[in-house]
Parts: sequence; C-alpha cells; structure tokens
Amino acid sequence: MKKRIFSGVQPTGIPTIGNYVGAMKHFVDLQDEYDCIYCVVDQHAITVPQNPTVLKEQTRSLAALYIALGIDPKKSTLFIQSEVPAHSQAAWIALCNVGIGELERMTQYKDKSAKQETVSAGLLCYPPLMAVDIALYDTHVVPVGDDQKQHIELTRDFVNRFNSRYGQGQDLLVLPEPLIQSSGARVMSLQDPTKKMSKSDSNQKSYVLLLDEPSVIRKKIKSAVTDSSGLVYYDKENKPGVSNLLTIFSVFSGRSIQDLEQEYREAGYGKFKTDLAETIISVLEPIQERYNALLHSQELDRILDEGAKRANDIANETLKRMEKAIGLGR
Ligand code: AMP
Ligand code: TRP
Repeated sequence: MKKRIFSGVQPTGIPTIGNYVGAMKHFVDLQDEYDCIYCVVDQHAITVPQNPTVLKEQTRSLAALYIALGIDPKKSTLFIQSEVPAHSQAAWIALCNVGIGELERMTQYKDKSAKQETVSAGLLCYPPLMAVDIALYDTHVVPVGDDQKQHIELTRDFVNRFNSRYGQGQDLLVLPEPLIQSSGARVMSLQDPTKKMSKSDSNQKSYVLLLDEPSVIRKKIKSAVTDSSGLVYYDKENKPGVSNLLTIFSVFSGRSIQDLEQEYREAGYGKFKTDLAETIISVLEPIQERYNALLHSQELDRILDEGAKRANDIANETLKRMEKAIGLGR
C-alpha cells in the first residue's frame, strides 16, 4: 500500500510563483508515489480576522487553482477543512492533551500575535487543530515549508503522548514525519532580492502571482531590481537580483543555470527579462485557462463533494477510535 501524505494550505490570498516553486509544484509531483490528501484549511484562516465574502471566494479559488496546477482528483483527494467536522471535534481532544506552555512557545504564534491588535484564542490553539488535520488521516509524511517544522514537532509530541496515555501498548495514531523541501529553490522578492518573495509584501511589484495577467507579469519582471554590471551570471552575494531571476528562469524553463548563463551572459538585461517573462507566461497561461474554466463549474463542486466524502469517511473512523480510547460517550 502507498504511504499517506497530508498537507494543508490556507486560503489567504493568491499564491505567488514562490509558493509554486517552494511548495505547490511538489504537491503535484508527489501524487504518483503517495496516497495524497490535500486540504484547503479555511478553519486555520479564521485564526486572524477575515472578510467572509473574500474567505469564501479564496477557498474556492485555491481549490480550483490546485486542480489547474495538476492535482488529479483521480489520484489524490482534495477537500475543504470546514466540510469535515471531525477536524474540530478531534481538535478539542488534542487541545485537552497539549499544554498552554507548548503553544506559547510556537514562533509563528509569537510572530503573528505581535502583529494583531487583539489575539484570538484560536491563534494560540491553532497547532492542535493542525495536529489532528494530520493525525486523522493516519498520515506518514507531511510536505511543508521550513516555517512549519515546529508545528510538526508539536504534532509528533501530541501523537506520542496520545498513544502512551490511551493506547494501552498500541499505537492508536500514526507518527508523521515532515518532508521539508530543501531542494526547492527559494524565490526572492523582485524588488529586494535579499528578502523572500511573499504575497503579504506591501509592494505588489515584488512578486508575481500565479493568476497575474501576462501584461502584469511583463511589467513586474521588467521592473525587477538588477545591478549595473550588465552581465547575466549567477553570483548570489554580489548579484542577488540577477541570480534570483536566473533561478526563476531555470525552474520555469527546466534549463540549467549554466545553460542560461551561456545564452544570456552578454545579451543585456532587457532581452534576458523579456525572455524570462515570456517563459513564465508560457507556463502560467495554460494553468490560468484551466483555472478559469473550473472556477464556476459544477465539475469543481463535484470534485470537492467527492473529496469531502472520502475525507469524512477516513476522519470519522479515526475520530471514533480516539473517542473510544478516551472514554467519551456511551
Ligand atoms: P506561505 O504562503 O508563506 O504560508 O507559504 C506556503 C508555502 O510556500 C510554504 O511551504 C513555503 O515554504 C513556500 N514558500 C512561500 N514563499 C516562498 C518563496 N518565496 N520561495 C520558495 N518557497 C516559498
Ligand atoms: N499551518 C500550515 C501553514 O500555515 C497550514 C496547515 C494546516 C497544514 N494544517 C496542516 C500544513 C496540516 C500541513 C499539514 O502553512
């Protein structure tokens, strides 16, 4: 039997090409080797204030984008977290088996709570919800970014504790392993190539979104920061802007950096950027076409209905196992 993968993505904003290179592309690549379950985690999104209309739109939009990127509903399961009630039911159990001190130590909590005027209890209690997202599916492997490592550690602590408290010598829950994508290139901001490209950057020129129109992509790449040497070659220290563009070019074209250096070394930044923009567009355009066809289709609803059904079946079984072990109910 194939090993199980689970990962979740928050429906907060349109992903950038950095998200694609660092995370989403891998989700697609993992589908053949693993039994993959991918979840749009709308319940995680509401740990900070969200506009209800926007949240609903972005949840649907992210699901459509995943399918457009190549998540194949015949191979993988795609569903929306709030459509599987077992997540919140199991989260309560997890909350009762995790210490407040453990939660207060989470660096993402410290960062995010520092940015909020008022901090919800949900923001603090988010990692136990994430722990059961994973545990409910008997997940072996969790592909995530570096920033989620600490949450996976907490998940493992919870699983070990749950098994030893309630398992009577048996493993009730599967102990998951993180899969941190280290090979994936880190895409930097187009305006400040020493910073990570991020959709929450206040400068829109610093990122390319997966749903940006071709004319916007051309403009953003054209205004990307370079340097005054005029030569195209990779040198992260001294030429961070050009090196970042070479990395993006390499990922989107499938060509090696050396190969690109050979062609563009003396071609001038203008020609280099024009070709880079067209390469990105050639990859994103068919994705955007599929996305637009799917977004308001019944096909998308059918896929998400089926995903929720399969997810509910698996999650409810695990939840029952947990409740029984704890002594909840009759
Ligand atoms: P975020 O949108 O920051 O929550 O990130 C979602 C996923 O995309 C995580 O797995 C990150 O590691 C990955 N990611 C975000 N920004 C970048 C970037 N600029 N380059 C590479 N990967 C990224
Ligand atoms: N916390 C993750 C993030 O902010 C999203 C997430 C929620 C997740 N549940 C998950 C990731 C389960 C992996 C597995 O990016």
